[in-house]
Amino acid sequence: MADSRETLAAFVVGSPIRHSRSPLIHGHWLRQFELEGSYRALEVLPTDFEPFIASLKADRRYRGGNVTIPHKERAFELADQPDALAEELGAANTLWLEDGLLKATNTDGYGFTANLDQYHPGWDKAHCAVILGAGGASRAVIQAVRDRGIGEIHVVNRTQSRAKALADRFGERVHAHPMEALAELMADARLFINTTSLGMDGEAAPEIDFSPMRFDAVVTDIVYVPLETPILAMAKAQGFATVDGLGMLLHQAVPGFEKWFGRRPVVDDALRALVVRDMEAHG
Ligand code: ATR
Repeated sequence: MADSRETLAAFVVGSPIRHSRSPLIHGHWLRQFELEGSYRALEVLPTDFEPFIASLKADRRYRGGNVTIPHKERAFELADQPDALAEELGAANTLWLEDGLLKATNTDGYGFTANLDQYHPGWDKAHCAVILGAGGASRAVIQAVRDRGIGEIHVVNRTQSRAKALADRFGERVHAHPMEALAELMADARLFINTTSLGMDGEAAPEIDFSPMRFDAVVTDIVYVPLETPILAMAKAQGFATVDGLGMLLHQAVPGFEKWFGRRPVVDDALRALVVRDMEAHG
């Protein structure tokens, strides 16, 4: 029988993987719980992903792991038992071995809502939300916001056909719109979510006038580099509450850690400070 310390191991797999902050997050929790586990970043190219998944099941070196770009869709397809969340998204970011089966879920939506729960409790009283963007990252957000019971979810995207595809996928409470509709849609919204790459990594973002929104609306961005994105800075300058996207990254890691290592970790200020310091040091 394998040494139990040997099996207390998890990974994050992606390509490129060297900028992943997941090892920092899970390493922090492993130390906090004084567990002799490990969490490693694994660089695996798309052509090697299927054999990688096969080896996971064969050699049992890992309890499971996280999956990031570009493997989330393939991970879902290759899992033996994706849950309903992953099934609807067609993508998985968390894998674990259980009863000899490779199980899969997607915790991005949980991370998104847990971040808002932490920094803006009551956000889910919003009847109406506007989501900017219809790329891969917006799917889990749409699903999570819908599952928390937000009545009307308006997806606004430069390419309207992509927004339409998501509206079709996520049901009758989700509607697709072109960019021009933004101001009108904002009038009813108490939640504004940017899921586009606008403003990422120091890029400029177009000016957004948030003034049509209710005074008690909250604006959040899933981009967290920089922490205060141009969209958040604009919203704040216009007097709106804002929540940055770093907490989504931190919270999405919680369910995986619990599956692999048996303890439910907490997203605390020390963890956030650790990741912020790393971002400041390495960009
Ligand atoms: P991700 O998986 O990170 O969401 P993606 O699938 O490439 O990445 O989606 C990026 C999102 O940002 C899309 O909604 C994209 O709009 P399009 O669907 O029209 O491409 C949006 N986006 C990126 N650059 C943009 C820009 N300059 N103006 C408006 N939207 C932009």
